[in-house]
Amino acid sequence: MIYLTGDTHIPFDINKLSSSNFDSNHLTKDDYVIICGDFGGIWNYKGPDKEEIYWLAWLEEKPFTTLFIDGNHENFTRLYKFEEMNWHGGRIHKIRNSIFHLMRGQVFEIEGHTFFTMGGGTSIDRGPMRGTTEQDQYRIWWPEEIPSEEEMQEGRDNLKKYNNKVDYIITHCMPKSELKKMFSFASGDKLNEYHEEIMNTVEYKHWYCGHYHKDIDLDNNITILFNNIIHL
Ligand SMILES: [Fe+2]
Repeated sequence: MIYLTGDTHIPFDINKLSSSNFDSNHLTKDDYVIICGDFGGIWNYKGPDKEEIYWLAWLEEKPFTTLFIDGNHENFTRLYKFEEMNWHGGRIHKIRNSIFHLMRGQVFEIEGHTFFTMGGGTSIDRGPMRGTTEQDQYRIWWPEEIPSEEEMQEGRDNLKKYNNKVDYIITHCMPKSELKKMFSFASGDKLNEYHEEIMNTVEYKHWYCGHYHKDIDLDNNITILFNNIIHL
């Protein structure tokens, strides 16, 4: 079985996966919970702290396998140092035995479904809370939050191998036109533009994203997830 949910910002929003909110007793490590970015489990710039070790062990003890794409609330310096592996047709970082980071621009085949993944997003809370000064960079904010041209192109190339047709698209943020429908003042960034291109060129059944801290269904079979945990 495959479940999907939104940002977990460990430790702040991980409780949605606690047994009181999400009954996982019937699941096994061959079942999956996919987090649509802002996992937050690899965060402290000084290295793993007690809190991080605790929450990763907590997840590892769950009966399911945790899969996450990255959002903008991740420590990319540390995330990219985890062992890289091929898994179900795409590239991952192995965080723990059953916690995997689904890398950008990959297509995974899981339980007979194909998933295109593209993490990343712009931190709109940069500023007083999460600064843009030089000392904040690589401590609480990482420029890698927006995918590089190479990562975006890898995504296009991998989609081409599937004739631009996948079952599901998993991203952190949404296509530009959908963003503008929701926030008329928003201009979007190059990642929103990329998602717009993907939306217009790739055939998909459903698209799931996180980032906006809401649970809403949009046009074009796009669903924003935050607290909801949905069964695919
Ligand atoms: Fe978030």
